[in-house]
Amino acid sequence: MTALPKTFRVKSFGCQMNVYDGERMAELLGAQGMRAAAEGEDAELVVLNTCHIREKAAEKAYSDVGRLRREDGSKPMVALAGCVAQAEGAEAKARSGLIDLVVGPQAYHRLPDMVAEAAGGARPVDTDMPAISKFDALPARRRVGPSAFLTVQEGCDKFCTYCVVPYTRGAEISRPFADIVAEAEALVDSGAREITLLGQNVNAYAGGLDVLIRAIARIDGLERIRYTTSHPADMQDALITAHGEVEKLMPFLHLPVQSGSDPILKAMNRSHTAESYLRTIEQVRAARPDIAISGDFIVGFPNETDADFEETLKIVEAVGYASAYSFKYSPRPGTPAATMDGQVAPEVMDERLQRLQAVIAAQSLAFNRATVGKTVPVLIDRKGRKDGQMIGKSPWLQSVFAETGAGIGEMVTVRVEQALPNSLGGVLA
Ligand code: 5AD
Ligand code: SF4
Repeated sequence: MTALPKTFRVKSFGCQMNVYDGERMAELLGAQGMRAAAEGEDAELVVLNTCHIREKAAEKAYSDVGRLRREDGSKPMVALAGCVAQAEGAEAKARSGLIDLVVGPQAYHRLPDMVAEAAGGARPVDTDMPAISKFDALPARRRVGPSAFLTVQEGCDKFCTYCVVPYTRGAEISRPFADIVAEAEALVDSGAREITLLGQNVNAYAGGLDVLIRAIARIDGLERIRYTTSHPADMQDALITAHGEVEKLMPFLHLPVQSGSDPILKAMNRSHTAESYLRTIEQVRAARPDIAISGDFIVGFPNETDADFEETLKIVEAVGYASAYSFKYSPRPGTPAATMDGQVAPEVMDERLQRLQAVIAAQSLAFNRATVGKTVPVLIDRKGRKDGQMIGKSPWLQSVFAETGAGIGEMVTVRVEQALPNSLGGVLA
């Protein structure tokens, strides 16, 4: 038996959905009368909201857990949450005696109960994926920053052969339309001016993502709408049209292609080809010519040859990305690709990754340079390093820094003077 914790800290790793889940867990604990620990303060409860998508994720999570032991040998109450918790389940308790409770991404509405059980000496595990939505059991949104995340859809039915998401996040489920609109209104009421709609396959949203975007665009005070992550095969005409018609929908599209080689895309079970992807990009650009395209790539998928990799470089050249993430293939336990023959040697992956990242970095810089001399609206979201300097985002999701007396949450107009690979600098116009 220990006392119920009075302070907590939630540490989120990985994707934006984990950031969102982390915020909601914090709100949930806050609603129970617990307080978020201040910077540098020892929290009595630490929630590690983990990611399982790539590389030694479980090992990393256990070493993070290990580091929670304090110098005097004591420790906070430790909750393992997120996708590693889902994948490891009860196993986690056996692997680390420091873990007091294990809660999966679809069960975290039970966190306060589980904390009470853990204080009572139990070590509860909940990795159920209940039919009843956890969202119904969460408290209302509280004060948020100018830019907020909102989960509209969770899980994935695509089963790309390299990916753990269908196993850790479960089947594709869309939240009810009215609930999402109500949450968006609450976020705007509490200070959000930009909302990013989240889903593992957000453009597969059951009610039509375009319909949802148009509904949310009607909320007064909301100025910017974004969404992520999309699957190329679900990029419907109606959504593409919305990019040309809905002013609040920002000109940015994250549309992962993963590879430019059709045989590899097939082995990945991606249900699109290089050509169909390029056709989609063309349509999107026809609807919104200034749109920034972003992507994800995997190099070194099993049996990827030099020729396959050249196709990836070709598609990058053809698209011209504003930004993109690229990763070395990492075998995920339980996924079909992990046991495929033809695993690619690490040195080969390293070399391909370096080449790909060099091309992408050059494209990002070129994209940023093209904004120099232009005047862009910037939504301030944080302080810069220098005194008086603030940082915000352009419509194309570039970080822009400028000297201004404007505070966080204000929209300012900046004339861009300087372009770096990952940011822009400018002066107030
Ligand atoms: N290995 C490497 N990268 C992966 N991703 C997903 N699973 C793996 C894996 N097993 C990448 C994909 C996806 C992004 C979120 O992470 O590019 O789009
Ligand atoms: Fe994973 Fe593919 Fe689903 Fe994306 S679409 S979450 S990569 S299975």
